[in-house]
Amino acid sequence: MKLVKHFLEFDGYSRKEVSQIINSALKLKKQGYPANKPLKNKVAALIFQKPSTRTRVSFEGGLARLGGYALYLGWQELQLGRGESVADTARVMSRYVDCIVARVYSHATLVEMAGNSRVPVVNALSDKHHPCQALADIMTVWEYSRRLRLRNVKIAYVGDGNNVCNSLIQICALLGMRLSVATPREYKPDDEIVKKSLEWAGETGAVIELLEEPDEAVKEADFVYTDVFISMGQEEERQRRIEAFLPKYQVNRKLLSHAKPHVRFMHCMPMHVGEEVTADVAYSDFSIIYDQAENRMHTEASLLLYLLRGRG
Ligand code: CP
Ligand code: NVA
Repeated sequence: MKLVKHFLEFDGYSRKEVSQIINSALKLKKQGYPANKPLKNKVAALIFQKPSTRTRVSFEGGLARLGGYALYLGWQELQLGRGESVADTARVMSRYVDCIVARVYSHATLVEMAGNSRVPVVNALSDKHHPCQALADIMTVWEYSRRLRLRNVKIAYVGDGNNVCNSLIQICALLGMRLSVATPREYKPDDEIVKKSLEWAGETGAVIELLEEPDEAVKEADFVYTDVFISMGQEEERQRRIEAFLPKYQVNRKLLSHAKPHVRFMHCMPMHVGEEVTADVAYSDFSIIYDQAENRMHTEASLLLYLLRGRG
C-alpha cells in the first residue's frame, strides 16, 4: 500500500510541520481563503460515532471554503452500524474519497482505519487524543500572546486528564512550550502519551508539569484551560467523577486569582457550566472560547491543505 500521511495524533509529526500548519491557518484567517479553491473536487468522508457541533461544522465549512466537499456519515447510517468491519469500510471509502475524518470511541478503531486506508485518516476525536482541537488551541494562544514568544507563555490545564489534555500535552511538548496540568490522581493523563511527550520535551526544551493541586498549576499562568469532567461515553461514571472533581478542580474566580492578572480562560466546548467552570469565568471578558472554536475551522482547513494538496 502507498505510504499515506495520517493525522491520528502528534507522534510522527515534527515541530516544523505543526508550526507550518498553525502558521498557514493564521494566514487563512487573516488573508482569507484562496480564490483559486485549492481543494476543488476533493471529497472528505466525515465518519462520526459520537455527536459533534464544532468538529463537524468546522471541517465542513473549512473544506467548502477551499472548494472541496464533505460528506457527513453517522456510524449508524453506514453498514458499520450493522457490523461491517472497520477495515472493509476504510478500504471501500478510500476508493471514493480523498480523506477520512473520523470521530470514534476507541483510538484503536482509528489505527485500524488508517492501516486499511489509501487516503489520509484524520482524528476528529478518540478516547485518547483530540489533536485537531490542540492545533486550534495553540493557534489561539499564539493570537493572544503577541508580545511573548510561545515558549515563554504558561498554560495551565485543570480537570480531567482526558483526550483534550493528552493532545495539549503532546503539542506543548513538541513546540517547546510550558504547560502545568492538575488532575486528581485517579484521572491523570495517559501514561504512555506523557512518557513520550516528556522525551520530546527533553529535545524541545518544553516544560511539562504534572500536578494534583490546581492552585499550584495555575500559579502565574497566562492561560487556564479546562474540559468537561464527564466525556462522551462516560455518562455512567457521572457520580464517581463529580465526587472526584468537585469542588477542587472547578475553574472559578478564586482559582484564577493565582494566575497572572491578564489570564485568559480556554475551553474546547461544549461546557457544563457550573461543573468544570463557573458562568462568571466562562462568559467573562477574559474568556477566549469562541476564538478557540472559530480557529478549529482555520486549523482544520490548513491541515487538509497540508494532507491533500498535490494528491492526484
Ligand atoms: N470541541 C469539540 O470537539 O466540539 P464538538 O464535540 O462539538 O465537535
Ligand atoms: N473530552 C470531551 C471533549 C469533547 C470535545 C469528550 O471526549 O467528550
